[in-house]
Amino acid sequence: MTALDTGVSAAAAARTRVDVTLRVNGMERSATVPAATTLLSFLRDTAHLTGTKEGCGSGECGACTVVLDGKPIRACLVLAAECDGAEVTTIEALAASGELHPIQQAFIETGAIQCGFCSPGFVLAAWCLLREKADPTREDIDTALSGHLCRCTGYESIFAAVRLAAARRREGRWR
Ligand code: FES
Ligand code: FES
Repeated sequence: MTALDTGVSAAAAARTRVDVTLRVNGMERSATVPAATTLLSFLRDTAHLTGTKEGCGSGECGACTVVLDGKPIRACLVLAAECDGAEVTTIEALAASGELHPIQQAFIETGAIQCGFCSPGFVLAAWCLLREKADPTREDIDTALSGHLCRCTGYESIFAAVRLAAARRREGRWR
């Protein structure tokens, strides 16, 4: 490769980098990243928040779910640059005090966490659901968790966890 080639490649690479600033779990995170960087990669590789998991990488498993401006989304399908200026919540925020969130506790108690790879996505989806519906129906839970795959639990324990967390919230044991 000639010096000219190298210069052209470097210039091209420079043109494809973008500045991104996100507010993640209440903290501002800024970086200059390749334009093709997904939100998932930004969170894991730049912000070093590895609680968000990469499963399929193509929007089919839900393992990479985070909350973007209040809504659960698949972080593998969104470019970090598209989220510039947005508010992102990851699983790390739920236990920020050092104690498990009541939804996480419910998952453990019902056996809904086994290998745990899918759990951050399920827990964040449940968190979003319970913020909107205090007493979700089976259908509500089905809808909220649809597209989230778990290879270990058979799902019933996950539904039980969401119902348990909801019941405890209605009893005033968490907000
Ligand atoms: S890793 Fe994003 S949906 Fe599977
Ligand atoms: S607990 Fe293992 S994939 Fe869900």
